[in-house]
Amino acid sequence: MNFCDLIGKTILITGASSGIGKQAAISITKQGGKVIISGRDKKKLDNSFAELKGTDNQLIAADLKSEDQIQKLVDVIPELNGIVHCAGIIGPTPAKFIQQENIDKMFRINFEVPVLLTAKILMSKKLQNNSSIVFISTVATKSPYFGGSLYNSSKSAIEAYSLTLALELANKGIRSNCISPGLVNTPLISEPAKEGQMEIVEDSLQRYLKKYPMGIGEPEDVANTIVFLLSDESKWISGTNITMGGIIQ
Ligand SMILES: NC(=O)c1ccc[n+]([C@@H]2O[C@H](COP(=O)([O-])OP(=O)(O)OC[C@H]3O[C@@H](n4cnc5c(N)ncnc54)[C@H](OP(=O)(O)O)[C@@H]3O)[C@@H](O)[C@H]2O)c1
Repeated sequence: MNFCDLIGKTILITGASSGIGKQAAISITKQGGKVIISGRDKKKLDNSFAELKGTDNQLIAADLKSEDQIQKLVDVIPELNGIVHCAGIIGPTPAKFIQQENIDKMFRINFEVPVLLTAKILMSKKLQNNSSIVFISTVATKSPYFGGSLYNSSKSAIEAYSLTLALELANKGIRSNCISPGLVNTPLISEPAKEGQMEIVEDSLQRYLKKYPMGIGEPEDVANTIVFLLSDESKWISGTNITMGGIIQ
């Protein structure tokens, strides 16, 4: 057995059509794991799927805003050894401009979706004992940026949820952990903004870059930590939150 081997493990990854989730899926299959990848955009999911290693991987397109689609996803997935919650949005709104709609949108994807998906998977008894659940938070919960109050709050909420989940599932050997990366080089920062995404203009990107003496992250950096947290090598780690990005100034 190699270090961080995932042979024999089946992992569900949300947000796998892009960025960190896509790379997590690729890295998990390189370690011998099987994956079920999910996202909204079928074409992008197909591209992710084409890069996976091994056989028996699955692709399920779903807009997880809908509870119905969350349930449909849970109904068709096989038994799991891990879940990686990568689906997420950003969308900066200075505090005084926040409206109910902004709160609903942000908390729906970044908090309610992973919470409801986890609950439904637990209810279905499809998560085996000794599984591992990984949530993606952000360094910004501790090191805020202007306009990020809703995003950072939704991620703080998922950190608190993950910690409590770790307690509730410990007797089954199921672990729950967060990873909190700094800026990562994904379509979130390199492509024109979609609905719910922050437009990062070249000017502010240069300002962000100066904050990272070790440079910004690549999806592989986060995916390697995801692989570690899914593997048996981390079997004594639960209820933690791993910060990534070096010293952020
Ligand atoms: N990039 C960074 O600098 C950074 C830093 C810290 C934390 N994070 C967190 O890391 C996670 C992944 O970010 P990323 O940079 O990889 O972003 P990304 O490239 O924009 O990917 C986001 C993923 O979320 C999916 N998604 C969004 N809304 C969805 C919905 N309603 N239903 C189902 N899937 C949905 C997208 O699916 P479709 O494309 O198919 O719509 C996409 O696969 C997010 O939670 C983000 O907050 C990112």
